[in-house]
Amino acid sequence: MTRESWQTRLGFILAAVGSAVGLGNLWRFPWMTSENGGAAFLLVYLGVVLLVGVPGLLAEFVIGRRSGRNPVGALSSLSDSKAWSAFGHVFVVTAIVLLSFYSVVGGWILRYVGASVTGAYFANPGGYFDAVNYGLEAAGFHLLFLGITALIVLRGVKRGIESATKVMMPAIVVLLVALAVWGVTLDGAGEGLTFLLSPDFAALEANFFDILPVAAGQALFTLSLGAGTMLTYASYLGEDRSLAADGTAIAVLNTFVGVLAGVVVFPIMFALVGEVGDGGPGALFVGLASAFASLPYGQLVGTVFFGVVALAALSSSISMLEIPVSFLVDEYGVSRPTATAGLVGVFAVTGSVCALDPGVFDLVASTIVDLLLTGGLVGFLLFAGWVLGRDAVAEYELGAGAFASRFGTPWLYAAGVFIPVFLIFTFVSGLAGALG
Ligand code: PHE
Ligand code: NA
Repeated sequence: MTRESWQTRLGFILAAVGSAVGLGNLWRFPWMTSENGGAAFLLVYLGVVLLVGVPGLLAEFVIGRRSGRNPVGALSSLSDSKAWSAFGHVFVVTAIVLLSFYSVVGGWILRYVGASVTGAYFANPGGYFDAVNYGLEAAGFHLLFLGITALIVLRGVKRGIESATKVMMPAIVVLLVALAVWGVTLDGAGEGLTFLLSPDFAALEANFFDILPVAAGQALFTLSLGAGTMLTYASYLGEDRSLAADGTAIAVLNTFVGVLAGVVVFPIMFALVGEVGDGGPGALFVGLASAFASLPYGQLVGTVFFGVVALAALSSSISMLEIPVSFLVDEYGVSRPTATAGLVGVFAVTGSVCALDPGVFDLVASTIVDLLLTGGLVGFLLFAGWVLGRDAVAEYELGAGAFASRFGTPWLYAAGVFIPVFLIFTFVSGLAGALG
């Protein structure tokens, strides 16, 4: 059977942006930003996106397109070392960890879409979140979200992922712009924008080494880096595309939507709730639900908002599921439907653990994910820099114009040396911070 590929270049870009834009922008970003000092955090995060994000994306793209395989197959087919092929299996674990907590949050979102329509959380937004966040019902909604994800992945790269994201991404952007325009006109919205956009440099300096690891983790998470998603998506690419141009477009679009999401969330929080809340995974749900509850057209606005979040979450969860699906299809010749169904069985269990146990959920959704993504990206960068070497530059140059081609060699040095050193340093300082 021949391997699938994307129908169009735009299709690939939208699928990759769909993977990038998700709960990371709409839920984890406000959560991390409010816990780490607002605008100062945004600044560090933007710096990491630029300096690590784009070169990191390129590393995954180069490895993916060159091999035409999933992460495990890519690392084993492009090197003769058993160690790299063993390392490739980490990405199967990462995908499982990611989707396990992600589909629990996806389940919360689906529930909030419904609850916005009926107004179920209007009487007591805080109490509502506490009542539905963990437990059997949360596990049920997680299964629903997982099921929808699987239905898209089941249809394949072109008919499933590409055709779904082609519709979802424009809808997300249009609706977010509408919400942002409405949000900034609310009384008191200015304070939210100030919180998001004017950094407190003194605080930044004092807390830089606490902020850096969290900002770096968030930058990787939001760009879907270090998981093998971008590698897998690039493995369905032909050689006529400029990886540098596509990678830059994807990072820019994701950052645009990320900041746009902040422009929606923070003004609404400040205008209608008066603060960003106490942080934590529930902040967005409780804060926005109270905001919507206090509005004349709250049910409508709430439905649109959580609907957008649901679309963004789905276009990301399909990219997580695609990693192990492509692994089983490429490496073991399993059919796509069988692979998808089997993995749904695994995720049904692992996700339910996160849905039932808040302690596991918190640990998985922040610390463990940050560690896996950082370690994973360091692996890809070193692989591109040291195993592929000049071949990585040659792959980078395929389809790239004269301008982009100039950056091939500097990129290789950054990928092989500077960025891994930076990420390892960040990782260790984060670990030191976490241990007290
Ligand atoms: N980038 C996605 C988001 O922001 C999350 C993600 C991480 C998706 C890693 C795939 C791989 O929601
Ligand atoms: Na998404």
